[in-house]
Amino acid sequence: MKALILAGGVGTRLRPLSHAMPKQLVPIANKPVVYHGLENIRRAGITEVGMVVGDRGDQIRAEVGDGSRLGLRITYIPQSEPLGLAHCVLISRDFLGDDDFVMYLGDNVLLGEISDFLEDFREHRPAAQVVVTKVADPTACGIAEVDADGRVLGLEEKPRHPKSDLALMGVYLFSPAVHEAVQSIGRSRRDEWEITDAIQWLVERGERVRAQQFSGFWRDTGQIEDLLECNRVLLDGLTGDRKGDVDALSRLSGQVVVEHGAKVRRSRIEGPVIIAEGTVIEDSVIGPHTAFGPDCAVYDAGVRNSIVLAGTTVRGVHGIHDSVIGRSSTIVPSPGEPRRHRLIVGDHTYAELAT
Ligand code: DAU
Repeated sequence: MKALILAGGVGTRLRPLSHAMPKQLVPIANKPVVYHGLENIRRAGITEVGMVVGDRGDQIRAEVGDGSRLGLRITYIPQSEPLGLAHCVLISRDFLGDDDFVMYLGDNVLLGEISDFLEDFREHRPAAQVVVTKVADPTACGIAEVDADGRVLGLEEKPRHPKSDLALMGVYLFSPAVHEAVQSIGRSRRDEWEITDAIQWLVERGERVRAQQFSGFWRDTGQIEDLLECNRVLLDGLTGDRKGDVDALSRLSGQVVVEHGAKVRRSRIEGPVIIAEGTVIEDSVIGPHTAFGPDCAVYDAGVRNSIVLAGTTVRGVHGIHDSVIGRSSTIVPSPGEPRRHRLIVGDHTYAELAT
């Protein structure tokens, strides 16, 4: 069994963050999104991984490398343009050979083990197996119609009039039968080669396609709100650890990670919170559900339920909440009425706020 992880695409809905970094590298609970998938793949016992990358491939290679740190062997598969998920399978033919494989979308986060899905696949040996979950808005996803025995009767990508509320999550299991399917379909309404259409092609050919329902936490991190929700949920599983320097005047409650080389002075931190290496927090009120990347400087500030990327300065601003702040940003007060603040800003941004 091999794994194919898809880390190309454009990430338009995550702008401005995705101007400077591929969406799969945006940190959630201080770990790039794609690592959550790679670690899940490794826990399932898979070590051979193909990673499809697009025009930001260099950044992904620089971050993830050959995978050896994670116990994986990663082969990079460049995709010239984001032409669809089925196109990713098509260009990965040499890497995949005639092996079964799990395909995992590099911007998806799930709280659960893909090994459970693999077990089901091995037991039933269908041509393809999808993982589905109930969603409130089926028009935003690929949708599957499934019978009581878990057999897929039909699938449709982002249907205008959905026949079910079972969305395809970003985990698919394939036998080599999928290769003929991806060669046989045409482009979709949104001009992509859709994996949903390839699986539908298998269904129409009478091949066995199964669905397994998942009821745990799952998000496609395509939008800022989803990033923040994933951050909250993953931080809820945090175990506190204080390797950094916390002074006697600071009060920490709940699960708080202060990494080696981080400093907390005269501050109140309500976990779950992660403070990465090199970050200094002084005279501030932080948390809950906040992750600071490395080398941030936070003075006389209040930040909760937010993701703050590396190298950012926040000084003299309180009430920051539900915010995602890109790398090396500067957030400082401007004169004016006290206000509340919500920020979704890109890398190297400078913001002045009324405090
Ligand atoms: O997240 C689940 C949904 O993912 C499914 O419900 C849909 O059926 C499926 O088509 C897919 O829809 P999205 O529109 O969300 O896919 P997105 O374009 O965001 O791409 C998913 C991942 O695959 C992301 O990490 C980028 C990568 N990708 C995407 C395309 C189109 C590539 O590597 N190459 C591509 O050509």
